[in-house]
Amino acid sequence: MTIRVAVMASGRGSNFEALINAHAAGELPGAELTLLIVNQREAGAVAHAEVASIPWIYVDHRNRSRESFDREVRGLLRRRDIDLVVLAGFMRLLSAEFIAEWHNRIINIHPALLPSFPGTYGPRDALAYGVKVSGCTVHFVDEGEDTGPIILQRTVEVRDDDTEKMLAARILEHEHRALPEAVRLFTAGRLKVEGRKVKVRSS
Ligand code: GRF
Repeated sequence: MTIRVAVMASGRGSNFEALINAHAAGELPGAELTLLIVNQREAGAVAHAEVASIPWIYVDHRNRSRESFDREVRGLLRRRDIDLVVLAGFMRLLSAEFIAEWHNRIINIHPALLPSFPGTYGPRDALAYGVKVSGCTVHFVDEGEDTGPIILQRTVEVRDDDTEKMLAARILEHEHRALPEAVRLFTAGRLKVEGRKVKVRSS
């Protein structure tokens, strides 16, 4: 069975590119990158979709309610029989209705070790707090901001002379491996959500 994956992105799209590369390398058996949805017309992710011949759609979120935006996106996902939604640098919260419809079928990547430092500025907040270890988290999306069940995490040491940019760049390298890995596990049917916990079945 093919798992049809839609990716949602707002910006640069390097995590989307990592998924494209993993797919091209045969590392996502059973997954099809079916659609990219962006909410910023200039999102770098679009160029990656073009190169990989993946259909993409721009949905404008301005001057409308969250519900209206989400309704349109949900329609697009339904029409294309999407099985899994991957938020790869998608900088908007989704409505409760959206999340309920896609219960445990939306994955997000976050540049910090959740539950620490949720929100927009993971690396900045981690640095300001003075933690010695940070990293990235791939998790299912629930109604909270960056609060859903954790699929996997990768750690990065924080250095004394780190800037936000340096730390974010080192975390990003791990994101590019962690996100495809999570999609691979989902597609292989190896993730089982039990309450807050995600159990990974051995293959
Ligand atoms: C990544 O750090 C991701 O964790 C966060 O936003 C950034 C997006 O980067 N949610 P990119 O657009 O995938 O390059």
